[in-house]
Amino acid sequence: MSLSEAEILSNIIRQRKTEKVLCEASSIQEIPSDLQQKNQQIILDAIETAGWAPFHYPRQIDEIAEPWRAHLIWSDNCPKIAQYLTSEIGCTTKEPNLTAGCSALALITWLPEVQRDDLGNLPRATLSAKLARDEEHLAAASAMVQNFLLILTAHGMGTYWSSGGKLGKDDMFQYLNIPRHERLLAAVFIEYPEMMTDGKDRKPGKHRDKRSNRWIREVNL
Ligand SMILES: Cc1cc2nc3c(=O)[nH]c(=O)nc-3n(C[C@H](O)[C@H](O)[C@H](O)COP(=O)(O)O)c2cc1C
Repeated sequence: MSLSEAEILSNIIRQRKTEKVLCEASSIQEIPSDLQQKNQQIILDAIETAGWAPFHYPRQIDEIAEPWRAHLIWSDNCPKIAQYLTSEIGCTTKEPNLTAGCSALALITWLPEVQRDDLGNLPRATLSAKLARDEEHLAAASAMVQNFLLILTAHGMGTYWSSGGKLGKDDMFQYLNIPRHERLLAAVFIEYPEMMTDGKDRKPGKHRDKRSNRWIREVNL
């Protein structure tokens, strides 16, 4: 029986799940170059399609309308980042092992209008207008991230949307050459289907089984 487009899309939405893959820097698996090439192209296509998310206000930085940016990090650079997190930043949380365990990492940022220095300096009305637009920039960027996760899921890739922890800090942005006016929304750790071998430490999302439909209300007037 063939599935309708709506059924296929619903299945992918429900299949998407957080999978945290952790690995020691010393046991990183090398990815064969043909697999890298194939999967990198899939990710490049996926992020471009994800950018068809709705956005309310053109952000217009560098004449780019979208209020988000995507910084793609391929597997050859992931060990360098894991190393930088540990030795330069002194990171003792799980980000180095997640970075070592992934096949690729996408750092997706959004572009707030209100910068840190603005809070005490802008007239109240200007600040509140900018904050209102910022909510919408963030909402739009989040829709883009979810699009990205869904396409990767449809390709059989593993994903984990993390806030990013130390990956979002100033010194890391400087290391990765990410402009300071961007703010990290999602560190998406990606695992290629061919790299899903046993022997890696895997953890599901903490809240996966807490879902209900009790947040839905039908309005009857
Ligand atoms: C904006 C955002 C940030 C997240 N950051 C983290 C994080 O820093 N650490 C973490 O363990 N999970 C993080 N998650 C993943 C959630 O824990 C996960 O989505 C939740 O447990 C439900 O599991 P599921 O994605 O498998 O449905 C984040 C999810 C979102 C949407």
